[in-house]
Amino acid sequence: MQGVHLVDHPLVQHKLTIMRDKHTSTAGFRQLLREIALLLTYEVTRDLKLTTTRIETPLAAMDAPILEGKKPVFASILRAGNGLLEGMLDLVPSARVAHIGIYRNPETLEPVEYYFKAPDDLAERLVIVVDPMLATANSASAAIERLKARGARDIRFVCLLAAPEGIERFQRFQPGIPIYTAAIDEYLNDHGYIVPGLGDAGDRLYGTK
Ligand code: PRP
Ligand code: URA
Repeated sequence: MQGVHLVDHPLVQHKLTIMRDKHTSTAGFRQLLREIALLLTYEVTRDLKLTTTRIETPLAAMDAPILEGKKPVFASILRAGNGLLEGMLDLVPSARVAHIGIYRNPETLEPVEYYFKAPDDLAERLVIVVDPMLATANSASAAIERLKARGARDIRFVCLLAAPEGIERFQRFQPGIPIYTAAIDEYLNDHGYIVPGLGDAGDRLYGTK
């Protein structure tokens, strides 16, 4: 599918299956999301540009590769985005972080923003927006609109599960922004939940239901 990177690594798929299982504990769910986040980050950063720096190993001087430019920004859509964020920061500890508080109105499925805090220089950084679930795509698109309004230009979106309907809507609202996901599920039900999915990501992550 054009613009969609499906991360089908066996470790990701194995861990995702355990996360989907309704018998998996809150602690297990949280740990697995953190682990999968590492592997998704590996993919979404695969083409970052490198430059070189002069160093001395114990044996010789060399021009060794290092990442070029400013550190990326990880933009977490609260609450569940924070479950991915933790693992991403394990891999890229110097990344900057934006927090965007958004929840879905359960009746209308429209996004409601309650918090926004981001670095000032978004225009100069790669911004990787993270949320485990892409359902209607309303939350992701609203978050990206806010980041764009604050100057972000180079944007990627990382999720764990996407509904086909969510991908179609995301690409209509946010053309050109690549999606990285571990799975594309079957459909969105009448309540806006991904099927078979994993349920409510925030509730499973934080044990609120
Ligand atoms: C969930 C999820 C996404 C959103 C996806 O958040 O974490 O942010 O739903 O659905 P959408 O694509 O239809 O917008 P939720 O609204 O449950 O908020 P929470 O994480 O604070 O529980
Ligand atoms: N948000 C979730 O947490 N799960 C879904 O299936 C859809 C939206």
